[in-house]
Amino acid sequence: MGYNRGLKFGTVFTILIVLVAIYYRSSEDILQKRLQALIYGLEKLENKHVMTSRPTVAIGYGMCTDVYVNAKELLNYSEQVGRPQHFNEINTELELLKSFAYYFRHGAAAERYMANRTLFDELVAKARSFPSSYSTIGGNAAIMALRFAREGCDVTLAAKLTRSLHQMMPQVINIVGGELKRDDIHLVIEYKHGDVWGPYSSARANRYIIHNDVNNPKISSLDAFDKLLSTYQPNLLVISGLQMMDNYPFPNGDREKLLYKVKRQMINQSVSTKIHFEMASFAEDKLLFELCNSIIPFADSIGMNEQEIANLYNAMYYGNISLVANSTPRIATVLDQMRTLFKLLRIRNKTINNSREVTRMHVHTLAYQAILTVKGSMWKNTMAAAAKASLTAHRHVCATSHIDIKKAALILDDSFSTSLVDGTRIALNTDKPVSCWEEILKIENKDISIQVCVAPVLVCTEAAQTAGGGDNISSAGLVLQI
Ligand SMILES: *[C@@H]1O[C@H](CO)[C@@H](O)[C@H](O)[C@H]1NC(C)=O
Ligand SMILES: *[C@@H]1O[C@H](CO)[C@@H](O)[C@H](O)[C@H]1NC(C)=O
Ligand SMILES: *[C@@H]1O[C@H](CO)[C@@H](O)[C@H](O)[C@H]1NC(C)=O
Ligand SMILES: *[C@@H]1O[C@H](CO)[C@@H](O)[C@H](O)[C@H]1NC(C)=O
Ligand SMILES: *[C@@H]1O[C@H](CO)[C@@H](O)[C@H](O)[C@H]1NC(C)=O
Ligand SMILES: *[C@@H]1O[C@H](CO)[C@@H](O)[C@H](O)[C@H]1NC(C)=O
Ligand SMILES: *[C@@H]1O[C@H](CO)[C@@H](O)[C@H](O)[C@H]1NC(C)=O
Repeated sequence: MGYNRGLKFGTVFTILIVLVAIYYRSSEDILQKRLQALIYGLEKLENKHVMTSRPTVAIGYGMCTDVYVNAKELLNYSEQVGRPQHFNEINTELELLKSFAYYFRHGAAAERYMANRTLFDELVAKARSFPSSYSTIGGNAAIMALRFAREGCDVTLAAKLTRSLHQMMPQVINIVGGELKRDDIHLVIEYKHGDVWGPYSSARANRYIIHNDVNNPKISSLDAFDKLLSTYQPNLLVISGLQMMDNYPFPNGDREKLLYKVKRQMINQSVSTKIHFEMASFAEDKLLFELCNSIIPFADSIGMNEQEIANLYNAMYYGNISLVANSTPRIATVLDQMRTLFKLLRIRNKTINNSREVTRMHVHTLAYQAILTVKGSMWKNTMAAAAKASLTAHRHVCATSHIDIKKAALILDDSFSTSLVDGTRIALNTDKPVSCWEEILKIENKDISIQVCVAPVLVCTEAAQTAGGGDNISSAGLVLQI
């Protein structure tokens, strides 16, 4: 009896274990199948649109050498770091450590000017001494130029650079701006998801950049670019790299003069040239307000990440700026910010001479891509653009052209709401992964029809690079829309 019961119990236990194993195996199978379906769905959309002509794209401004280093190798935590703190410009090693801690604990990307050249050169030399450190071509405009060229566009880039850096660029890219003796260097301090630094651990893979630029903040290629644009009408003009002016010690009034020239350049384009503005990390409120008044109103399209939209939204809605925001915001939150920003920009357009009406916004986040376009505007293929941006995000961070599902994860829920107030729920369909819908936005008694597309991102679980991601993603999204 006792023996029999023991046997029975043993059998039941074994069966239970087998069932549990089968359950786990099959739920893993289901997950893999879902990811596979999602990749297939996104790739199908990406490949649906074949470019029939070579669009012409002109991109401003700047270029540099990016030196990559692992945060844990370059920056040692010590008790001395104390409270994390934001600095407008960084002069000492302690300021660097405090500032790094400030952004690292939120997993927020940041880009800061280091006024102390001695310290900067020391840090670069130290970074280069680690075997894991490497250098690439850098600068938002240059990375966007490379991506547009790779996608089959005729590309002109505005940048002043040394002959040796010029030789690293593919010859198909036309570079205007002239020659330099020393290139600007950006030190890209990278960290991975879950990295621990002192008492902090990072919520996501990201990077903290410091620079000591001499050329990029002054847009030394601006006049040469003007000359080219007077005879050349590209399909798309991209304005990027203006964050190099952030907290840069300009002589009084020089920055305003420069921004005025950029504005003239934008206004001077024919209406057939679409203008895209690529946002970036701005910490100086005065500069951000200047951009809101004298650059952004002259663009048709804006590209940004979750930090940058939060910053721009705060600047335009509240008149203050946000240095760090949630690094993994909900879709509803970002879509609401996009709608509000769109309305604010449209209303502002009515009071600014020669402004353009914003017709496109692209927000890229770790978990998804969201693109808003005005119905009937010149932007095509929004759904495919969202798919391409999503695939590019994964490929860039994993540094691969082939997506390996073992390195991909979906961090979105099965459904999302389109707004925090009265939103509708949309289920994520793995066979049709990009969700698009139409909305009417009411702006001063006028109804404006927009299309919104949201694509999930297959988050790369083994991040190889994070810097330059936004530039690749924004360009990949634009290329199918022009
Ligand atoms: C950090 O500490 C390690 C080991 O103590 C040392 O080898 C390295 O040079 C230090 N790095 C910096 C930037 O001080
Ligand atoms: C600049 O950095 C060097 C080297 O770290 C340091 O000795 C010097 O005090 C710094 N200068 C200023 C103005 O902070
Ligand atoms: C504006 O464009 C016209 C030609 O379209 C050109 O002649 C003029 O130099 C340009 N001005 C500026 C400031 O770019
Ligand atoms: C900006 O101002 C708004 C309204 O006063 C406030 O709610 C928000 O916290 C402020 N944001 C920052 C970053 O200071
Ligand atoms: C806009 O242009 C009009 C006509 O040229 C001019 O009178 C007005 O002062 C301009 N407004 C601004 C804000 O520049
Ligand atoms: C607003 O943008 C539209 C379209 O680009 C333009 O026609 C209009 O003149 C702009 N408004 C002002 C006040 O410049
Ligand atoms: C992003 O751009 C950089 C610079 O062009 C390039 O090295 C990298 O491979 C790009 N990423 C992808 C996914 O193409």
